[in-house]
Amino acid sequence: MTTLIVATHNQHKTEEIAAMLGEHFAPITDLTQQPNRDDHPAPEETGKTFEANALIKALDASARFPDATILADDSGLEVDALAGAPGVYSARYAGENASDADNRKKLLTVLDGNTQRSARFRCVLILVKNGKVLTTCDGTCEGRIATAESGDGGFGYDPLFIPEGYDESFGILPAETKNQLSHRGRALAKLKTALSIDN
Ligand code: IMP
Repeated sequence: MTTLIVATHNQHKTEEIAAMLGEHFAPITDLTQQPNRDDHPAPEETGKTFEANALIKALDASARFPDATILADDSGLEVDALAGAPGVYSARYAGENASDADNRKKLLTVLDGNTQRSARFRCVLILVKNGKVLTTCDGTCEGRIATAESGDGGFGYDPLFIPEGYDESFGILPAETKNQLSHRGRALAKLKTALSIDN
C-alpha cells in the first residue's frame, strides 16, 4: 500500500482525510508526524485562490519528501453577505495568529443583525509525487452561518456552519455525517474516482 503525507499541520484535516482514504493508503501522516517536525514549518500562503495555495503546500512538502505521495488541502469559508470573505483568509480572519475561536467570534460580530446568512465551504485537494501534480479535485458544501455557536465537534468554523438540509451545525452533527456532506468529503470522493478507488 502507498504511504501518504498530508501537507498540513492541522490534525483535524488529517483525521478527516484518513477516515475516507485510510483503507487505500497506509500509513497516512502529516507534517506534525515527521521526524524533526520543527524543520517543516507551513509555507506562506501567498496565493489568491484555494488552488494556488494548495499547490504551494503540495510542492513545498513534495520538495521535502520527494519519495512520498503528498496530498495538500486548501479550504475555507465563503460568506455571501461578505462578498465571499473570509475565503482564502479563513484561517487568519481575525489576525495572523488568530485561533479558531477568535475567527468565529469575529464572524459572528461582523454578521450581527444581518439576516443574509448563506455561505459555503470550499476545498481544493492536490495530489503530488516528486514535484509532479497527479490530480486536482475540489468540493463545495452549501449552508448557512448560525447566529450562535453550537457543539464542539470538528474544527474551525464548524460550530457556526449549518449545512443545507440540516438544522444542526457541523459542531453537533456526527463526524461521519460531516465527512459525507462536507467540501473535503466531496473533494475526496472525486479524488477516489480519479484514482479508480471504488468506495
Ligand atoms: P487552510 O489550512 O489554509 O486551508 O485554512 C483553512 C481554514 O478554513 C481553517 O483554519 C478553518 O478556519 C477553515 N476551514 C476549512 N475547512 C474547514 C472545515 O471543514 N470546518 C471548519 N472550518 C474549516
